[in-house]
Amino acid sequence: MYRKTYALINCKTLKENIQNIKQNYPYKYYIGVVKANAYGHGDYIVNTLIQGGINYLAASSLEECLSIRKQNQNISILCLEPINHEYLNICEKENITITIPDYEYFKNLDLNLNLKAHIKIDSGMNRLGFKDKNQIKQVYETLKNSHITLEGIYTHIGTSGLWDKYYDKSIKTFENLTSLIDLKEIKIVHISRSLTLVTHKMPDYITGIRLGIIMYGYPQKFTKPTGLRLIKRNLYLKKHQISDITYENNLNLKTAFSLHTEVMTIKDVKKGEYVGYGAKYIAKEDIKIAILPIGFADGLTKNYENKTVTINNKNYQIIGEIGMDMTTVKIDSSVKLHDHVIIFSDPKKQAKELNISAYELFTSITNRVPRVYEEDEKITEIKY
Ligand SMILES: Cc1ncc(COP(=O)(O)O)c(C=O)c1O
Repeated sequence: MYRKTYALINCKTLKENIQNIKQNYPYKYYIGVVKANAYGHGDYIVNTLIQGGINYLAASSLEECLSIRKQNQNISILCLEPINHEYLNICEKENITITIPDYEYFKNLDLNLNLKAHIKIDSGMNRLGFKDKNQIKQVYETLKNSHITLEGIYTHIGTSGLWDKYYDKSIKTFENLTSLIDLKEIKIVHISRSLTLVTHKMPDYITGIRLGIIMYGYPQKFTKPTGLRLIKRNLYLKKHQISDITYENNLNLKTAFSLHTEVMTIKDVKKGEYVGYGAKYIAKEDIKIAILPIGFADGLTKNYENKTVTINNKNYQIIGEIGMDMTTVKIDSSVKLHDHVIIFSDPKKQAKELNISAYELFTSITNRVPRVYEEDEKITEIKY
């Protein structure tokens, strides 16, 4: 690394998160969702996740699945989006499990391919998935006499599951759509993602869970409302016939991702002079500034403007417009050239400050930023 801008990933924390989840939620299959370069943490962490106890992986596209396959040759990888039929021979060769998203896709499947497949059910999100139980039954029966192994069936729930009427409805829809087949005959039945795993008891037929953001340190705790808020909530749940959530859990998850850079240049700016593009910042007095080698091409979007970074345990404000490659902060005389700058070390707090989700925070840090992995005493740097 020549430019000292990097994301630091703590592998031990990731491993401990998974061990912690497994202790609290015993299932047979733990499907680690590692799309979008493992939620920005980088595909390199795949083997760390497996060491923690992940025994299946899932990604969005064939490209992503193949990139993960390079990290580990043995683990099963589910592609969450349909793969064009013309590329299914690659899935056969590389042990990529396909998703059958609807009947149209199924009709064009070559049943002689040696593939593992999961049927996707649309439980209300109207994205991917079957919406007709007779079609599901037909696929289920046809696959029994084919080379394709029906290994799994799943759905994705579009809402948070936090006191929402759609969650219960989605579960009912899933159960109704799968009522003509025997779920017990299917090895992996998975409907849950991170948030719904901790907030709802899973039905008995569930054998697997998909772990996304939870592996990377979210979500953590929910506090039960008290007093008037609790009364109001209970009335709301009753009125809309919504099941309550589980508030307590013994999870002790930690985020493993922090973003760093250094002071590249220090400058004195006189009162009345401007800083950066568009003269958006005019100095009201004589000030000192530091220029940092990180910009929007690294993922520092407009939301970061006016926020703070940390240098030597002190917070300093970002001023002016963030450029493609550089960002300016107002400093004091204690800051020295090449001082270490922490853009953020607490992603949860940072996402809140930026008013974005943790998903966006992690995946917005671009591949121009090398990922540095801390594993026991070992440091590994990867440029994606
Ligand atoms: C189909 C599917 N399953 C699981 C996940 C993981 O979700 P989460 O990160 O909320 O656990 C995603 C993420 O968007 C998804 O699209």
